[in-house]
Amino acid sequence: MTTTRTTSPQEGTKTGSKLAEGLNQVLADTYALMALTHHAHWNVEGEGFFALHAAFEEQYNDLFQAADEIAERVRALGAYAVGGLGTLAGLAGMEEPAAPVPQKDFVAALIDANEKTAGTIRKVKDLAGKEGDTETEDMLIARLQIHEKTLWMLKSYLK
Ligand SMILES: [Fe+2]
Repeated sequence: MTTTRTTSPQEGTKTGSKLAEGLNQVLADTYALMALTHHAHWNVEGEGFFALHAAFEEQYNDLFQAADEIAERVRALGAYAVGGLGTLAGLAGMEEPAAPVPQKDFVAALIDANEKTAGTIRKVKDLAGKEGDTETEDMLIARLQIHEKTLWMLKSYLK
């Protein structure tokens, strides 16, 4: 397979605004978290299997839709969305547990990844607020609520 790349995946972030650049980081974190959650869905084992397998499916489906919405917001702001597994993983820089691991370790890794993503969202949401972009701010507030709920659930599981 040959592909001719005329633009680098990072070009959009360079030509875009600080806000678009921040949104691309939210996109990378969201996509990487989705992949981690999907991996946990496939490989989780043990006593809590059914509950975790189902909860992870709900989470990765939400994250997949969120990634699409975030990427399209980047485009609406006139910048280009980052993409490609290598680029997204590199930008996100998340720990990736290799199966088999105990289910508690999958949950702990997802807690870290959700916290990282929520931290990025919080910063970019504040930036959107400062710039008066209420649509982006609103979208990120909604995402933050979901990550906080997921964190509550994952942490409750570990107690
Ligand atoms: Fe499945």
